[in-house]
Amino acid sequence: MTAEATEEPGSDVLVEVRDLEVHFPIKSGIVFDRTVGHVRAVDGVDLSIRRGETYGLVGESGCGKSTLGKAILNLEPPTAGSVVFDGTDIASLKGEELRRERKRFQMVFQDPLSSLDPRQTVESLLVEGLRAHGLDTDKAATRTRLRELMTAVGLPVAALSKYPHEFSGGQRQRVGIARALSVDPDLIVADEPVSALDVSIQAQVINLLQDLQDDLGLTYLVVAHDLAVVRHISDRIGVMYLGGLVEESAARELYDVPLHPYTRALMSAVPVPDPVVEDAREQILLTGDLPSPANPPTGCRFHTRCPWKQDTLCDTERPQLRVVEVDGASAGHRVACHFAEQVASGEIQPHTVDPVLVTEGFGGPDGPTPPPEAYVGV
Ligand SMILES: Nc1ncnc2c1ncn2[C@@H]1O[C@H](COP(=O)(O)OP(=O)(O)O)[C@@H](O)[C@H]1O
Ligand code: SF4
Ligand SMILES: [Mg+2]
Repeated sequence: MTAEATEEPGSDVLVEVRDLEVHFPIKSGIVFDRTVGHVRAVDGVDLSIRRGETYGLVGESGCGKSTLGKAILNLEPPTAGSVVFDGTDIASLKGEELRRERKRFQMVFQDPLSSLDPRQTVESLLVEGLRAHGLDTDKAATRTRLRELMTAVGLPVAALSKYPHEFSGGQRQRVGIARALSVDPDLIVADEPVSALDVSIQAQVINLLQDLQDDLGLTYLVVAHDLAVVRHISDRIGVMYLGGLVEESAARELYDVPLHPYTRALMSAVPVPDPVVEDAREQILLTGDLPSPANPPTGCRFHTRCPWKQDTLCDTERPQLRVVEVDGASAGHRVACHFAEQVASGEIQPHTVDPVLVTEGFGGPDGPTPPPEAYVGV
């Protein structure tokens, strides 16, 4: 873990994401593939990940977290914007150069079983990973490396000859982590690394990730839909809503001083063990589902569900992620809300959110008509 993070880009920044967009075309038609719209999975994201830090990315399912993670790893080509990894724009890399650079960023997936070939032993899975990067030339060195990896992730060396189905969920995730570590990366993107695991096992895997970071100086992007998962592991946290970042700050500060109405709603959904605090704290119910990223709301994307929505600006202008002057908020704390200061001071108060028609259609005048039941909040 690093000390308090700031926003200043510099040599300590490992990953710099600028104005990133990843849009997926929506096709229609049997004979002619006609593009009838786009899913704006990632729609204008700016963020920096510093060397050695853990950046936690949270938001509801479908808000674009995995797509952002993949774009950072060069597994999903950006529609616009850039990802600069250690000073190099990854979109400019080709062939051998790309392969060499790829070794430096690895992914740990949510479901370890689906990302591991069930017919291969752990040993062959790990050797395959090494071979893909030309790292298995010396047999003795490979054997030593595999033993080291098993020890590093807390598995017995005998586990090398076993198949994925012979392990528990937590152990399989350890194999997934060993595979990512095998090529000695700088950055690991862990996409919902503990979501498929029992709560009791989650802490063990999170602790393992933290120990490995301390020992190996790794940088992490940890993606989760659950705030509780990223809370303890992250140095900084970014909150994503419908393809964009709505708030970003040091982890502790996000919990102490959540500023964006969406973050406040997410926080109010996390139970607090102290019954007195639990009774006294703010409870904000999020009304309705996440609107479709194929047809996002105008202005602030959260305005259809925001209890603080105002009659001006909210539905017409998309708020920028900006530093705000609010008590307790430091310079690295950014919020995308026109009224963040007034929400924080209590000058504007939350109100009931009316049901809003969410057009599930695919945009454009010739897109399909939304079904009448496409309402949220009723
Ligand atoms: N390959 C793809 N083609 C079309 N749409 C996609 C593709 N991948 C993701 N999406 C859509 O993009 C949006 C964001 O997805 P995703 O990044 O997986 O969100 P999250 O990880 O936050 O749940 C979703 O609406 C999803 O359906
Ligand atoms: S800009 Fe308006 S709608 Fe968006 S979060 Fe702020 S108050 Fe709510
Ligand atoms: Mg995902």
